[in-house]
Amino acid sequence: MTDDTFVAWLDELQRKIEYAEEQAYSPVVIQEYRSPSNFGVLDNPDAVGEIKGPCGDTMKISLRIKTGRIRDVRFWTDGCGATIACGSMLTKMINGKSVEEAANITNETLTDALIGLPEEHLHCAKLAVDTLQDAIKEYNNASNFLDKNCDEIR
Ligand code: FES
Repeated sequence: MTDDTFVAWLDELQRKIEYAEEQAYSPVVIQEYRSPSNFGVLDNPDAVGEIKGPCGDTMKISLRIKTGRIRDVRFWTDGCGATIACGSMLTKMINGKSVEEAANITNETLTDALIGLPEEHLHCAKLAVDTLQDAIKEYNNASNFLDKNCDEIR
């Protein structure tokens, strides 16, 4: 195979992959997956959630929270493209929201924001929302501890 033939074969393969993605996923999912927002891990976060889903993939969400409001957020995952899209969309949805508002986001709310997910990837939205709930639980536990034990430093 010459270099030109190889490049043409690679281009054709890329086009086939993109076509298959476009058949399976909404344009919003593809956009979030190809160009995700808020990917990474915050330094010194106020709360971190980490969950391994039944598929074996992991998601981590770190939150910076000030006066009960999410001021910054990052997600990390070793999961599939749908999970990257879910992490990206979810972090955009919660940034600037109160902890209470973020806690009310459901799998369905997230899936709707992505204009749907294939049935076999609905668990990716659940992984993202469960990870957020895990982070919020950590934050609430720490806040309750402070309320009970550290009134004098507030
Ligand atoms: Fe494992 Fe999407 S999170 S397949």
